[in-house]
Amino acid sequence: MLKLGFIGAGFVAKFHERALRCVRNAELAGVCAPEGAEALAELAREDGLGNTKVFDSVAALCSSIDVVCIFAPNFARLEIMRDIARAAENGAKLKGIICEKPLARNAKEADTLARMAKALHVPTAYFENQIHMPCVVEARGQLAGVEQTMGAAHLARSAEEHGGPHEPWFWDPTMQGGGVCCDMGCHSIAAAMYMLTPRGKPPDHLKPVSVTANMALLKWGKEPWLSQLKARGVDYSTTPAEDYSSVTIEFKDPETGVRSALQATNSWMYDAPGLRLLMETFGPGYSYTVNSLQSPAGLFISDAAAVAVADSELALEKSQATRGALVLQPNEADLYGYVAEWLDALSAFEAGKDALLNFEYGRLITMLIMAAYMAHEKRQSIDLTDTRVLDALESYVPLIQQGKGAAVLG
Ligand SMILES: NC(=O)c1ccc[n+]([C@@H]2O[C@H](COP(=O)([O-])OP(=O)(O)OC[C@H]3O[C@@H](n4cnc5c(N)ncnc54)[C@H](O)[C@@H]3O)[C@@H](O)[C@H]2O)c1
Repeated sequence: MLKLGFIGAGFVAKFHERALRCVRNAELAGVCAPEGAEALAELAREDGLGNTKVFDSVAALCSSIDVVCIFAPNFARLEIMRDIARAAENGAKLKGIICEKPLARNAKEADTLARMAKALHVPTAYFENQIHMPCVVEARGQLAGVEQTMGAAHLARSAEEHGGPHEPWFWDPTMQGGGVCCDMGCHSIAAAMYMLTPRGKPPDHLKPVSVTANMALLKWGKEPWLSQLKARGVDYSTTPAEDYSSVTIEFKDPETGVRSALQATNSWMYDAPGLRLLMETFGPGYSYTVNSLQSPAGLFISDAAAVAVADSELALEKSQATRGALVLQPNEADLYGYVAEWLDALSAFEAGKDALLNFEYGRLITMLIMAAYMAHEKRQSIDLTDTRVLDALESYVPLIQQGKGAAVLG
């Protein structure tokens, strides 16, 4: 039974608490966070996830658990990783380190995190739930024979959209790393890359060849949305971020030379029932699709009804309404792949190994995100076969992330 320790007790930590109700070989032993730790620990105890305690420092947490999970905001990654490294040097016996997406805000930070974990000789898991989504994994499983006969997919489209993040730090490009491309493009790029990767090959098998991208501030720079954000402490008239992003990446299979492409589309203006994941994969003679809003369950509450749903966020992530025709997804933690990513990471850690996706993989995704920002900034295709470009990406910090987005989002 692995003892887990969460750093962070916000939105995603609560989602993972829900996922852990479906995982048998782990106990949520501790939580450490400036806000929300007590409430999350109480919930975990009520749900029978263990005798969950609250810790007031990363060092104290690490000395009482086996697996430490970084579920805190993006801007705190390095400081937290340094605390974890110090705890390990002081004797904490860690069997695994988990970090939520994105690994970091830029390539330099991602590189530091990956190198620190390597130096500690502790296995890692980069939590990208979408490549573990059962509907994607099962579709690929059913098509395994078809793929073997006909060849791997050549085009994958992946989109994640909702109406905008829940906390102000997500909107602030200097704290989060950018706008929707950094926040959700990392999901869609990883998911689409996985859908193109030939079955049985590692998740970093395909070699990225080129990246093009278009980003824009379409909704949240206009009134009344601009003022709504200002009231939450975020000023998009001075430090804007993109609320729309479209990225195309071309790949080459290093073994067969076969080319493939992904299209990742993301927005924070999906004024629709709630979060939607839309995936389409096309192979030679076959395809599969996923639409996370197509649920077998639906609700309807008319104007005549006195009350709304009990908890719209528990019915559907980023839900935008509490009455009318509503989508109900009764087990989002499973639908979005959270349960499967835990099962993968914990069994890998028990065997002393990295999860399917490790920090090095997270670093690769960060590099692709940086290439997308560079492509948008330069208004040109970024050649990832050119070593000078790869060198430049290592130290590149997008203008949007620097708080100078007005220059490229006009
Ligand atoms: N996989 C997904 O679909 C998904 C969804 C949401 C968020 N995330 C990722 O999870 C991470 C956290 O996002 P969230 O939505 O839970 O954020 P949040 O703002 O809801 O919660 C953040 C939590 O971290 C704590 N915290 C803040 N600063 C800290 C610090 N320096 N040290 C320790 N804890 C600190 C806060 O008190 C809070 O408990 C982000 O990196 C985000 O990208 C992933």
